[in-house]
This record gives sequence, structure tokens and C-alpha cells, in this order.
Amino acid sequence: MAAAQELPQTHRALILTSTTAPPEIKTIPTPHAVPGSVVVRMQVCNVVSYASKIYNGTLNFPLLIPSVIGSSGIGRIVTVGPDATSLKPGQLVLVDSFIRARDNPSVAFLLGIHEGFSDGSRVLARGEWRDATYAEYAKLPLENCYPLDESKLLSHGLGYTIEELADISRLAVPYGGLADIDIKAGETVIVAPATGPFGGAAVRVALAMGARVIAMGRNAEVLKRIKENNERVEVVPITGDAEGDLKALKQFGPIDAYFDISPPAAAESTHLRSAMLALEHGGRVSLMGGIRSDISIPHALVVHQELQLKGKWMYSREQMRGLIKMVEGGILKIGSGSGRIVQKFALEDWHKAFEAAEGTLGTEKLAIILP
Ligand SMILES: NC(=O)c1ccc[n+]([C@@H]2O[C@H](COP(=O)([O-])OP(=O)(O)OC[C@H]3O[C@@H](n4cnc5c(N)ncnc54)[C@H](OP(=O)(O)O)[C@@H]3O)[C@@H](O)[C@H]2O)c1
Repeated sequence: MAAAQELPQTHRALILTSTTAPPEIKTIPTPHAVPGSVVVRMQVCNVVSYASKIYNGTLNFPLLIPSVIGSSGIGRIVTVGPDATSLKPGQLVLVDSFIRARDNPSVAFLLGIHEGFSDGSRVLARGEWRDATYAEYAKLPLENCYPLDESKLLSHGLGYTIEELADISRLAVPYGGLADIDIKAGETVIVAPATGPFGGAAVRVALAMGARVIAMGRNAEVLKRIKENNERVEVVPITGDAEGDLKALKQFGPIDAYFDISPPAAAESTHLRSAMLALEHGGRVSLMGGIRSDISIPHALVVHQELQLKGKWMYSREQMRGLIKMVEGGILKIGSGSGRIVQKFALEDWHKAFEAAEGTLGTEKLAIILP
């Protein structure tokens, strides 16, 4: 095992012990790389817009208590397990918090967010992969660390800072759904709602894939900015009048696909109906939202228009690699040059990061923690 001596005995980590008390920073033993893993010095961690609602129990996620909480991010490998064949100490990697079972592709959970919904995911989360990334050091499965080409991404290449690279994890989420429904250059795709962090990311990814986007949302101000800041974007407000919004969508001609990223609060929103009704024969729908209840779908239309509905949780490994290539190749822009505002917070200011993330509606801002 290389460079194990660089690891300190203990490190600082943000630990959740209850939903009725805030997470606390504690000093705990530093993890060691076992077979199949690496230990990473976390550089940057993402914060989702609903972080406060996850850890105070509002969203009713199956939380793992106690545990180090966290999300995806960027880190530098410090030690590697004995079976690592290409990952090396010192390497800059994207740290992916979507943990999948090695012996069963249908078992997965989100490290630092919840323990998943199956017996298998609980085995992984309660055992080897309990602690996440809001910490100085984190142990990750080998396959959850994606090498990043520093020469292409940083100062002598595209000129991004390491902090700006945090955007990649957010963009990977909608890429999973958009790639799944095979979005092609020249096609038209509805993104709804487009005004939240992942919806805004979906607009950017769909454009980079060569599509024209119709962005739907309730916030006229944010929709206006999305249109102003991007070519090939049309906007349609969600007014609550499904038929009126359908008419507004149809004015833009044939629509090939619809990408949905609705939060639970939008379960009854009329945009689900208007967007499906607007699709061409054979239209494709990607459902990636966080709605936990059943939703109503226009059944006859799905049948007669032969629509295809596909759900997606996160992305495949191949899709993550594809998305990183789009960023490294400069096709998908990130960072301040692409209008992103990165708000940075120290680990002890995690509560400010959560507040800032909650206010990132509008897609331009990215709240990150620097452990
Ligand atoms: N499938 C996956 O792998 C995956 C991965 C990540 C996230 N998600 C899910 O994606 C969802 C979106 O996440 P997010 O962080 O981008 O945003 P979010 O903060 O959960 O939701 C904000 C977005 O939803 C819109 N919205 C809220 N209530 C609405 C309503 N009643 N009708 C219509 N629109 C409404 C907001 O529009 P306004 O600006 O008008 O309020 C804004 O565009 C979450 O529920 C999350 O669980 C899924």
C-alpha cells in the first residue's frame, strides 16, 4: 500500500447523531484503505439544495445514524488498497457518492445521504461504506473515484479551479437521464422544472448534447435568465393551466423528449401532463424527480402516441465517464466563465453552506464545503 504513512491517526468529520440535533464536527480515527478501496483527502464537497431537509428528517429519508454525512465532490487520493491497478496516491479524482453493490447492480445507495431502500443497500451502508465525505479524509470504493485530467481541466488547460470542478457531479445527474433517452443533436427536449439546481444543470447538459431546450418553470425571472444566457433555449411558464401551457409548448414545433426533475412538492403540478401531451409520436420521457407518491399519467396518450417512459436513479459508470469527457473536452462548460458562482464554506460553517445551497434555486450558484 503506497503512502499510508501520510495519513494522520485522526481527522475532523461532520457527524449526524440524530434528526433532532444538528450535525457536529468530531475528531475520529482516520479510515484506512482496505482491498477494493482508496482513502481520499477531500478537497471540495457538494451540497444539495435540500440538505437541511434531509438531515432534520423533513424528507423522511432512511438516514444512517450515527454516520459522517456528505455528498459527491473532488479529492486527492492519499492511499490505495492493495488491489488498485491504476488509481495512485496524489491523483485528483471525482468522488462519486452513488455506491453500488459489486455483486448486484440493482443494489445502491447514496453515501452520506441515506442507506437506500433494500436489505442489500443496508448491508453496504451499515458496514464497509458507512461514512461519507464531509470530512478531511474519506474511504471510497475504487470504482467511485473517477480520475480527472488535471492538464486539461486546471491552469494550463481550461483554467478551472479545483472548486469549480464540483459542478461536474451535479451535471452528471441529468446526463444519466438525458443519455438514457438518447437525446441527439438537433432534437427538442422539454426540461421541467428547469429553475432548480438539477433542472438548470439539465438545460446545460442537453444543450451540450446538441439539443434545443424548452425550459419550463414557475419562476419567470429565472426562466428569463436561462433564455438570455443560452442559445437554443425557449421558455414556457408553468401557470397551472395544463391546456394553456400545452398550447405554449406546441408553438415551438415538434418535441422529441421530456426530462423531468420534479421535487416532491411538484407531484400535483400540471407540467407533468402538459409536457407529456406535447410530445411527438414515439416521444421519450425521463423521470428523475424526487416525487415519492404516485402520479397521474395521460394513459391513452402514452398508448396511442407510443411514448416511452424511463426512470433513472443517478447515472451509470459509463455515463459518468462520458460526462467527464464532455467537460475535459471543453464541450460542456463549467466554472465562473459559464456563469456559475461558487460559494465556498469551511467544514465548521456547514450550516451556512446548507443555507446557501437552499438559496441556489436559479441554477447559477453552487454551494460547496472545503473540508
Ligand atoms: N433521480 C435521481 O437520481 C436524482 C438525483 C438528484 C436529485 N433528484 C431529485 O431531483 C429533485 C430536484 O432537485 P433540485 O435540487 O434541483 O431542486 P429542489 O430544490 O428539490 O426543487 C426546486 C425546483 O422544483 C421546482 N418546484 C418546487 N415546487 C414546485 C411545484 N409545486 N410545481 C412546480 N415546480 C416546483 C422549483 O421551482 P420554483 O423556482 O418555481 O420554486 C425548482 O425548479 C429533488 O426532489 C431530488 O430528490 C433525483
